[in-house]
Amino acid sequence: MKPALLSLLSLFFLSACQVPSSISKSTATMPLGSELKVALPPLIVGLEAPTWEDVQPVEENAPSWSKPVNDTYTRVSTGRKVVAITFDDGPHPENTPRLLDMLKERRIKATFYVVGNMVKYSPQLIRRMIAEGHEIGNHTVTHGNLARMSDDALRKELQAAHDQIIAETGVTPRTMRPPGGAIKKSQKELMLREFGYPTILWSVDPEDWKRPGPAVVTSRLVNGASPGGILLVHDLHKPTVDAMPSTLDQLLAQGYEFVTVTELIELDEQVSD
Ligand code: NI
Repeated sequence: MKPALLSLLSLFFLSACQVPSSISKSTATMPLGSELKVALPPLIVGLEAPTWEDVQPVEENAPSWSKPVNDTYTRVSTGRKVVAITFDDGPHPENTPRLLDMLKERRIKATFYVVGNMVKYSPQLIRRMIAEGHEIGNHTVTHGNLARMSDDALRKELQAAHDQIIAETGVTPRTMRPPGGAIKKSQKELMLREFGYPTILWSVDPEDWKRPGPAVVTSRLVNGASPGGILLVHDLHKPTVDAMPSTLDQLLAQGYEFVTVTELIELDEQVSD
């Protein structure tokens, strides 16, 4: 990819992709089932962005859950010292390969909530993620505000990204994360019913997209981690990837085992009602 395109992508994501801090903070503490409304601009600014319209439907054999699942998770209840680390908004052509090297070196499995319009720039990267044992989740095609969409628009966003991931990897995504955490209760129920997707939020948000510096990102993640937790970061940002060696090594030294989001859900000891 050309440097100009890379810097355009970086500039855009710095300025537009992320959620205001007030939203991130309120999301972390909002009760389940509440509606969060955020303003998210279109994914790509200044570029001719691919869209979901040219994605063809695909055949699949979707795996099912071994037990009833909730429509939302911010964490799970487990006696095991496990966490799921999740990387959103990629794949990024430079940061993501570097991150994958770090994960591989430590034999850590992660979950990537990829954006369809980013996948189109670097499809080989999600194939690499799968080949190296990571999990791919659906983060929509355009990274828009789902809470403001009609059910039909929501279905289109999810279905196109779902089909795109299968077309590129042959693997069916099992979970989704709404951009900015913006989602309505009725939409969560729809996604679970029609796609089998639980909505995955998080228990730790270091606000890495505000670029507080790698050391701060590390300390927020390490201090925030707890058994059954879900860590939210973005492989879109270089300083976030810079924070990973120290973060991962500290959590490993504390005895944490890294699992993917679907593995984490299977470990949930809470009985669904
Ligand atoms: Ni996002």
